[in-house]
Amino acid sequence: MNKDFVTLALLKVDDAAEMFDIVERNRDHFRSFLTWIDGCTDVSHIASSIADSIKQGSHRYGIFYKGQLVGTINFHGTDKSNMSDGVGYWLDAAHQGNGIMTAATHQLLAIGFGQLGLNTIRIKCAVDNLASRGIPERLGFTLEGVLRQNQYLNGQYVDMALYSLLASEFPTSLVK
Ligand SMILES: CC(C)(COP(=O)(O)OP(=O)(O)OC[C@H]1O[C@@H](n2cnc3c(N)ncnc32)[C@H](O)[C@@H]1OP(=O)(O)O)[C@@H](O)C(=O)NCCC(=O)NCCS
Repeated sequence: MNKDFVTLALLKVDDAAEMFDIVERNRDHFRSFLTWIDGCTDVSHIASSIADSIKQGSHRYGIFYKGQLVGTINFHGTDKSNMSDGVGYWLDAAHQGNGIMTAATHQLLAIGFGQLGLNTIRIKCAVDNLASRGIPERLGFTLEGVLRQNQYLNGQYVDMALYSLLASEFPTSLVK
């Protein structure tokens, strides 16, 4: 996989139909780890959530592989007192295992530590979500610990691994 084929672009309402198609194809896969999936039953849900993100100026990106939308990655919302933020992501299962999300996360870190001026970026994953945990681990994050019963997921509370990366740990040459 050539990392140059992976690009991020802020999501537009026009992307909603393509995103909804991905959600429809991946319901069973996403349900294991994403809490919102069963509430997303119509393309209008995605369209209005993109419109809200645009209004709030939040950083929610489409991930494009060779120009095709394959997933999303976003900051949750900056804690401005502490210049920290968290990252969320999902990828069409058909494109998994090629390093696309690792490359996309790397690009988001460059934006976060660059134009957003963040000092800390955190990623929280269910402890059993090994595909997701692989991303902060591959990108040099530190495992801070395990948040016990931190998320109510599919009828049970699950523990979550909390990872962080500091601005001082991210190469300045890569900051955007
Ligand atoms: C979590 C998720 C985004 C991970 O996607 P992914 O395809 O596994 O992640 P990547 O695109 O970075 O690919 C990593 C894999 O590709 C392999 N790979 C191949 N080429 C690579 C490259 N150039 N660079 C990095 N990894 C590469 C890696 O070895 C790794 O495989 P491994 O896990 O078997 O070791 C995806 O599984 C997903 O959307 N899951 C459902 C939603 C979800 O869980 N979201 C997160 C909630 S916290």
